[in-house]
Amino acid sequence: MKRALIYLSLSVALLLGGGAMAQTGKDGPMAKLDHSLIELHQRYAAHLASRSRAPFSADDPLIRLAGDYVIVDAVADGDAEALVEDYARCAAWAVESGADVVEAHLALPDPFAGQPQLIFENIPLAAQILYGVRTTVGTPVLAKLGVFRSPRALHDTATKLASWTNGFTLIHAFHRPVVDDKGEPAFEGPGRERADVVGADTFAIASRQVTEMLVWRKAGAWDRAILAAGGVSSVERAAFLLHEGADAVLVATTALVDPLFAARFRQALAAAVA
Ligand SMILES: Cc1cc2nc3c(=O)[nH]c(=O)nc-3n(C[C@H](O)[C@H](O)[C@H](O)COP(=O)(O)O)c2cc1C
Repeated sequence: MKRALIYLSLSVALLLGGGAMAQTGKDGPMAKLDHSLIELHQRYAAHLASRSRAPFSADDPLIRLAGDYVIVDAVADGDAEALVEDYARCAAWAVESGADVVEAHLALPDPFAGQPQLIFENIPLAAQILYGVRTTVGTPVLAKLGVFRSPRALHDTATKLASWTNGFTLIHAFHRPVVDDKGEPAFEGPGRERADVVGADTFAIASRQVTEMLVWRKAGAWDRAILAAGGVSSVERAAFLLHEGADAVLVATTALVDPLFAARFRQALAAAVA
């Protein structure tokens, strides 16, 4: 991952430098960069100076050029251990900053899979990440999951990951191709054909997966906390999930447009009790 971070710095350097002559002396702006970065920058600068029509090639499959941007694949360096260490390091930082609970976001694209899948769908990798985080921090750890392809997949994943986590948060979002009215990718740029879809319209499916998870817990498969997320846009929706047995409800999109949502929820709850 160190390598990935270095490459990210390079992309910044390239964008800022715009291909201008680099100062490589010990006091110049390149002084703090890794040698391989400087080399790459010099090759890029030479490529620009040569006015060649051929596209710049970094001779590294993790680095691509798209228009004016250098795109760096920050995690797919083929090293699962580095990814696990990254999760653990970030968790340690969160706890150092005062976090009471750490959530490992496992609904991100799996960098090691040939086909599009999310990390939680790669159960051995997800378990390794959770193990790494749990053995690093003393706080409770949650696993954030996405949409499951089937109730069976939900059951198997939760059962296999339960030993490594204190609870599950679901669902993160719908990671789907997003197209415009002509069927073209709605967002520009390579790698953006799929995006995380969130918000009120996801509630029907998100809440169904939460209730399925609650049923499995009730059946006694495991006893971990279940935090519900996805499309909670009203007090009624939040109350429904809590009533079904969720330990907590998370609200993201709605909080952007309705920052007092939680306060209204509390008021509604207090009024119902009184
Ligand atoms: C603006 C915004 C930023 C988000 N950032 C994160 C994030 O950094 N990490 C994360 O795990 N989820 C993040 N999420 C996802 C939410 O935690 C939540 O899982 C998702 O939005 C579904 O809930 P919603 O339908 O209420 O928005 C973000 C969501 C929004 C809308």
